Amino acid sequence: MSAGRVTLIPGDGIGPEITTAVCGILTAAGVELEWDEQLAGVAGLEETGTPLPDATVESLRQTGLALKGPLTTPVGTGFRSVNVALRREFDLYANVRPAKSLIPGSRFENVDIVLVRENTEGLYIGFEALIPVGGDPKAVAQSNAVVTRRGCERIARFAFEYAVKHGRKKVTICHKANILKAVSGLFLETAWDVAREYEGRVEADDVIIDAAAMKLVLDPSQFDVIVTTNMFGDILSDEIAGLVGGLGMAPGANIGDRAALFEAVHGSAPDIAGRGIANPSALLLAACLLLDHLEDTDAAGRIRKALEATLEDGSVLTPDLKGNATTMEFADAVTRRLD
Ligand code: NAI
Ligand code: MG
Repeated sequence: MSAGRVTLIPGDGIGPEITTAVCGILTAAGVELEWDEQLAGVAGLEETGTPLPDATVESLRQTGLALKGPLTTPVGTGFRSVNVALRREFDLYANVRPAKSLIPGSRFENVDIVLVRENTEGLYIGFEALIPVGGDPKAVAQSNAVVTRRGCERIARFAFEYAVKHGRKKVTICHKANILKAVSGLFLETAWDVAREYEGRVEADDVIIDAAAMKLVLDPSQFDVIVTTNMFGDILSDEIAGLVGGLGMAPGANIGDRAALFEAVHGSAPDIAGRGIANPSALLLAACLLLDHLEDTDAAGRIRKALEATLEDGSVLTPDLKGNATTMEFADAVTRRLD
């Protein structure tokens, strides 16, 4: 049993469908959370005229916890990513993305990797410019990556602390310090400084990012916890999601000192929105991460077991997992297996 207030952002596209399914499973599991439902993204824009209403930010400031459905971000033009704005506003510096094989018959049956991605620095800060040369306004494009020793230190420490807390054996530092000697070099050096403090408790090694991408598809079982900078983490986390059955199965936590926000790695899936066939597993696993964060390991464990049993049984699956069940049929199958 757990109690507490949590900001709930159903989001756009398939967001409301999977949120309804997930909240139903949590209630059936006896989780007693008080949801403070708030708007963001296109839903926020249409209702209040802004994609990130003040009320949503204020709610998260008060609860310090959110479960969030995906938010649509227009490509190229329109408003900037609300996901990035929330990560910045609440300094949600650690993006934790666990991936575990749960689907029988997947290419790999032994994946159990936790990717810890730095969420606030690097190339994604968007220090960009187009430089005109001659008559061409876009002759040169430039983007600056910025990392700080403090930012590198806190993400490395987060990864090693996570390993200790969750009984993980090894942290692999992924980098490109051979080429990006300053930006990636500082990350590597700082991460190793932290690693030495955990000597004897958590093993550490480092792998160059492109080799890591190759090693992951050859034999993912050689990885345990991975820590890396923002863009490398973005790319590797989708690769790792692919090793365990795709985006429908991948949850993520965005964690800072003042707030934590839990979501699926996938987006609003406009191609299937409104059809009631989205896979709620990723958001359900994100809700389990929220329960872990609240130290309600009993409810999280029971929900994960019910989800695993449903996937194992394989008779009620959504179309992305080659089944023909609806979101709610799948959610009901999970609920029936709760003990
Ligand atoms: P997407 O993740 O929404 O969809 C990619 C493919 O995966 C689609 O074919 C979709 O149908 C499928 N898919 C995704 N989640 C699924 C689920 N739960 N069940 C079954 N199939 C699923 O990525 P896309 O199309 O690139 O982005 C759509 C929108 O989502 C964009 O506006 C993007 O900015 C936004 N987005 C938001 C994120 C967030 O809020 N954290 C993360 C990623 C994208
Ligand atoms: Mg991504």
